[in-house]
Amino acid sequence: MGNSQKWWDEFWTQQTSNVISAKDNDETWHDLVWKAGLEYWYDLFEELAPGKKMLECGCGSARVSQYMAHHGYQCTLLDYSEKALMLGKSNFDSLSLDGQFVIGDINHLCFPDEQFDVVFSGGVLEFFADAQKPVNEMVRVLKPGGVFASNMVPRKFSIQTIADLERTLAYSSRNLVKGRFRDVFKRVQYIPPNYNVNSMSLQDYIGFCEKAGLTSVVGMVTSPFPDVALPQLGKKLYASIMKKLLPQWRKFNLSKSRWTEVWGTSYTIYGIKK
Ligand SMILES: C[S@@+](CC[C@H](N)C(=O)[O-])C[C@H]1O[C@@H](n2cnc3c(N)ncnc32)[C@H](O)[C@@H]1O
Repeated sequence: MGNSQKWWDEFWTQQTSNVISAKDNDETWHDLVWKAGLEYWYDLFEELAPGKKMLECGCGSARVSQYMAHHGYQCTLLDYSEKALMLGKSNFDSLSLDGQFVIGDINHLCFPDEQFDVVFSGGVLEFFADAQKPVNEMVRVLKPGGVFASNMVPRKFSIQTIADLERTLAYSSRNLVKGRFRDVFKRVQYIPPNYNVNSMSLQDYIGFCEKAGLTSVVGMVTSPFPDVALPQLGKKLYASIMKKLLPQWRKFNLSKSRWTEVWGTSYTIYGIKK
């Protein structure tokens, strides 16, 4: 379970710069999902965190930390992929932001206890066969009263599973028209098979957080809008519908119904260190 350090190095070598935009970028599904997430985390940390010293674990291209650093947080960014850190650092540099970049393993964090006001990991815990260990470590380095927050895209049935059928059909038709016959039967999956993502439930993650010493743990199944294959104009239209439905989107994220659990594509979780 989990992708190796080498796998992530290769992954990040293929990624281009990923700088958060100063302008309000909300023209596609991708833009909007990121924008909503960044605003959500910022509001949450402002409300709950005792200070602005933040650690992001498994930072990748460092988008969340870029946003927080831009809003006055002192960010330390950790990843075990050197290539990820290089990309994250170059993104910080191009926005003239200060951050401390540290190479290291989340299972054995190289920081003393109780250092940070916020510890965040986004899109990381789902890659662990046993997420208790990294959660324990991230909570260990959190100050009492500090906020631990995380989101994950689990391997579960969701509206994205249905959207993946539409994406498969769209890409297959395109490949057929373009004569790429070998790719016609390729299945398109939001979480590709070579992503070793676990299928832990939200309840599992809540349990890990409580066991690690967090209180007031909140877990939500979030993200009601799937990624779909659309032509350029359709992408804009989809984004404008999503924007209009933002209040309902927020309500969906907060509702804890069985229906939300089935439909939603991501987990969002946070808690306070005792
Ligand atoms: C899907 S990426 C998420 C990147 C970023 N947080 C985001 O949301 O765009 C997962 C990251 O976690 C890092 N990672 C995975 N396991 C790790 C570990 N044990 N220690 C440190 N970093 C790890 C990978 O190198 C990769 O950069």
